Amino acid sequence: MENIHIISSFGGSTFKFLEDYSQVAVIVDENTIAYCYPLIEKLLPHHHLIEIKSGEERKNLDTCTDIWSRLTSLSFDRHAVVLNLGGGVIGDMGGFCAATYKRGIDFVQIPTTLLAQVDASVGGKLGVDFHNYKNHIGVFQEPAKVIVCPSFLKTLPERELRSGFAEVLKHGLIRKKIYWEKASQTKLQDQKWDEVIAESIHIKYEVVKADPTEKGLRKILNFGHTIGHAVESYLLEKRYRKLLHGEAVAVGMIAESYLAQQKGFITQKDLTEIQSCLLAIFGKAKLSASEIKEICAFALQDKKNQAGVIKASLLNAIGEANINQAISTQEVAEALLYYEGL
Ligand SMILES: NC(=O)c1ccc[n+]([C@@H]2O[C@H](COP(=O)([O-])OP(=O)(O)OC[C@H]3O[C@@H](n4cnc5c(N)ncnc54)[C@H](O)[C@@H]3O)[C@@H](O)[C@H]2O)c1
Ligand SMILES: [Zn+2]
Repeated sequence: MENIHIISSFGGSTFKFLEDYSQVAVIVDENTIAYCYPLIEKLLPHHHLIEIKSGEERKNLDTCTDIWSRLTSLSFDRHAVVLNLGGGVIGDMGGFCAATYKRGIDFVQIPTTLLAQVDASVGGKLGVDFHNYKNHIGVFQEPAKVIVCPSFLKTLPERELRSGFAEVLKHGLIRKKIYWEKASQTKLQDQKWDEVIAESIHIKYEVVKADPTEKGLRKILNFGHTIGHAVESYLLEKRYRKLLHGEAVAVGMIAESYLAQQKGFITQKDLTEIQSCLLAIFGKAKLSASEIKEICAFALQDKKNQAGVIKASLLNAIGEANINQAISTQEVAEALLYYEGL
């Protein structure tokens, strides 16, 4: 975890390492420039701001073109550095732009949402959406540093906080039962975020360290994401209705837990516990039968699939997951119909 720093506040020495770079750019959106940039502005050396518009619908190659254009017009060389000050959208896209600009310059992740702090900023996955397929174009590249400061969460809207919490619960479900129990039994407003962030980063870090390029174990982190990404991608295409990433993953975790129960991997009691907890926190997303049919087509594009077969990571118990479980589009549809019937 040498490049990940969890700090309680920013100090005079936090950004001293930036003195070694030729130039510094900070990527922000309209929210992080208003709420997060003021916490670090005075501590940064001379730098350029690159402001983009927030939102998953901007996480695409058009926005990358804008970022690459700015870096080019600022004459950034290969000794320059990019700071990504924002949630997972800025982290994934700013990191991707840096990792490919002039074959790669350094970048620093400064995650400002819970989701980015516990998940997106750890593990070196970078990229953008393409033709409404989530994270379809991207690379693996580790940041020079990740600076995690829970203070940013004070201004984060509650819905965004809850979305990030889905990944926290996922970490417990796939890896550590007592963490799931503690996190799922504590109200959102009573969570000790510094402890939660440290525990989740630790779980994700250990998994990624064992399998950085997702040949095996790392796939457990995709629990809930095979169906969750399909739901998220479908709604992204529709535009009229949107689920946040964590909200879609919560749908996916219930649907995929149902499949695990149907295959005899987890008990009915486990399924009931998982679904009642997730529904209590995230509520119910409405999906019609015709929408479910279309969502199945998106599941066929998942990056874990092999030779046209959908491969999911399904729970084997609370706290354990099995990778490479073949599921059919029929099963995806059945699982979503089960979810809708709850
Ligand atoms: N790379 C990975 O391993 C990985 C893992 C999980 C998710 N992701 C990606 O992360 C993205 C979702 O990230 P997200 O949930 O952080 O969403 P996001 O980046 O869209 O941020 C959510 C919203 O919160 C605002 N915001 C950010 N910080 C704030 C703060 N401190 N105060 C007030 N407002 C703030 C942003 O402007 C935005 O409007 C998805 O694109 C997903 O694919 C990547
Ligand atoms: Zn996720």
